[in-house]
Amino acid sequence: MSSDIAIGIHDLSFATTEYVLPHTALAAHNGTEIGKYHIGIGQHSMSVPAADEDIVTLGAAAAAPLIAAHGSDRIRTVVFATESSIDQAKAAGVYVHSLLQLPSACRVVELKQACYGATAALQFALGLVRRDPAQQVLVIASDVSKYELDSPGEATQGAAAVAMLVGLDPHLLRIEEPSGLFTADVMDFWRPNYRDAALVDGQESISAYLQAVEGSFKDYTEQGGRPLEEFAAFCYHQPFTKMAYKAHRHLLNYCGADTDTDTIERAIGLTTAYNTTIGNSYTASVYLGLAALLDQADDLSGQPLAFLSYGSGSVAEFFAATVVPGYREHLRTAQHRDAIDRRTPVDYAAYRTLHQRAFPTDGGHYPTPEQTSGPFRLAALNGHKRIYEAR
Ligand code: HMG
Repeated sequence: MSSDIAIGIHDLSFATTEYVLPHTALAAHNGTEIGKYHIGIGQHSMSVPAADEDIVTLGAAAAAPLIAAHGSDRIRTVVFATESSIDQAKAAGVYVHSLLQLPSACRVVELKQACYGATAALQFALGLVRRDPAQQVLVIASDVSKYELDSPGEATQGAAAVAMLVGLDPHLLRIEEPSGLFTADVMDFWRPNYRDAALVDGQESISAYLQAVEGSFKDYTEQGGRPLEEFAAFCYHQPFTKMAYKAHRHLLNYCGADTDTDTIERAIGLTTAYNTTIGNSYTASVYLGLAALLDQADDLSGQPLAFLSYGSGSVAEFFAATVVPGYREHLRTAQHRDAIDRRTPVDYAAYRTLHQRAFPTDGGHYPTPEQTSGPFRLAALNGHKRIYEAR
């Protein structure tokens, strides 16, 4: 479990959207008893992107504070994980590289495997740093979750980006070996190239997630990982926060451990604070869980944390990290709270208009309305090219 050199997350920052839709507004529209949202799935509101926001503007906004704090001289790789890609060829990270004026001596690539992509990016980053400990890797997880209007998945939408600087002697977390891995070919959730909104078999997706929890933890144990009781907290992928509770109860049952409510609450309660108000941010979700935990918990210095990253389709990874003593001096708690609090509530009609918005596909010049107050915006689509601007 201990490694000769300490590599991990040096800094972490997230950004979310300009707008927010409270679940009370969705419930009033579709006649759902609000308890189903607040208690049944554990969601209170969802981040809604403005017309001039997307995965690039969110990713750049998440990463900008890291570049401002640490500079970009050591960054030789940017890995952009997303499943709401804006182009089939060009990596979204190249736009971010440009908006943040990163060095040209840099490789930039996009990674996809549903919500699991950011964990793959993190693991690849660890390998690159191990090979060349002088370099840092910028990992960006950015997604906009979109389901059909009036579908069961609609209440679990959301959007956010998390940026992580990965390097040697990190300030926040040392990522440990081994990892527990699990892949199974299931059609629980997918989005064909011609569709804007995901397709999902809701109940099948919950079963597939639970099967992946069990499978990845089994492999983690077989690879010589820590016993369950050593972990101070568990960060799960949270498509909706109640899913983390289902997953942890399933894991405890699988291990023959106590499943009393207090034990489960202590293990994951704090990790849900950001996801319950942001919604599903796909690749970013598990790392928003980490941010919420670090920002709120009493001192976790030296404590091992568990991570369960799940991406439909499906791939999962169970891994551990140790919290670095002194980490609290390097948290961005005020920035994170502001990212959530600064959002402007929209009513159901305004949300629906934004949801249905799409650029024409004829190659014309289509400026976007100036809505976001964030540091970057998607200014237009012109000649099939997305035009971004920094403020
Ligand atoms: P649904 O059919 O709308 O809801 O779908 P339900 O009938 O299953 O009810 C949900 C819960 O609310 C139930 O609790 C009800 O009892 C409860 P449970 O039995 O699950 O404990 N409930 C109430 N509670 C209190 N007061 C009330 C009340 N009424 C009902 N009045 C579903 C829910 C999650 C399936 C749907 O929202 C959906 O399809 N979501 C999208 C898929 C999803 O999030 N799947 C999760 C696992 S897959 C995953 O995590 C990957 C993903 O992130 C994608 C990726 O990897 O890229 C999605």
